[in-house]
Amino acid sequence: MNNLLCSVLLISVILILTDAGCLTYPNITDANFDKDCNGNAVITCYEGFKMIQGLECVEEEWRYQNPICKRTECRYKYSNVKALSPNPYGRRPESDPAKCDETCANDIRCSAATMIWGDNCALYETPFIFVSLDGKEDQCIEKCNEMSECKTFGTRNDSTGLFCYLFNVTLDKIPEKLKQIYTSDFTVAEKICE
Ligand SMILES: *[C@@H]1O[C@H](CO)[C@@H](O)[C@H](O)[C@H]1NC(C)=O
Ligand SMILES: *[C@@H]1O[C@H](CO)[C@@H](O)[C@H](O)[C@H]1NC(C)=O
Ligand SMILES: *[C@@H]1O[C@H](CO)[C@@H](O)[C@H](O)[C@H]1NC(C)=O
Repeated sequence: MNNLLCSVLLISVILILTDAGCLTYPNITDANFDKDCNGNAVITCYEGFKMIQGLECVEEEWRYQNPICKRTECRYKYSNVKALSPNPYGRRPESDPAKCDETCANDIRCSAATMIWGDNCALYETPFIFVSLDGKEDQCIEKCNEMSECKTFGTRNDSTGLFCYLFNVTLDKIPEKLKQIYTSDFTVAEKICE
């Protein structure tokens, strides 16, 4: 099987089939099938998946194999240079978590909210996308895995619990006012998916 010797991997986001004569789509799981205005089929992997297409040489010619959509895998790159403070832009006296969410939903500036100290609703603005004050660091990582828009997470071990906060931007795009000198109470990590 000398085919394997010359196989390479190509990575692309979409595959366009120009053969209008094909009545059935190729069997690719975890993908959307669409037609563009020229009648070409456009195959796009679901969010969180990337398209991988093998190319192999068969009888001394390069041939594409059927593409597959493979789940992207994410890892975390920790930073110990800067800490990120979970500083809210506002606090409202509140004891009901549902009311806190409602307050955030009604405030155009608010992108995330959480109850703190039992009787305060803390309001956060973009690029925060999620904040909580309970749980453990691995739950925070799990939350960042679930939210495909999460690019960076931070935690802070506060006396009242563990703050977990997620951002939809990379570390370099997080506003300077949230950055402070690193101490061991904090973790900061960027999500890298490939
Ligand atoms: C499509 O591919 C999947 C996995 O490779 C297989 O389980 C399924 O039977 C295939 N479906 C058809 C219609 O060929
Ligand atoms: C981050 O999310 C906010 C909404 O909460 C949105 O307005 C903003 O465009 C997003 N930024 C990026 C880089 O996706
Ligand atoms: C927070 O810090 C305390 C004291 O340093 C430690 O006992 C506790 O395990 C830490 N909590 C988390 C969630 O890391």
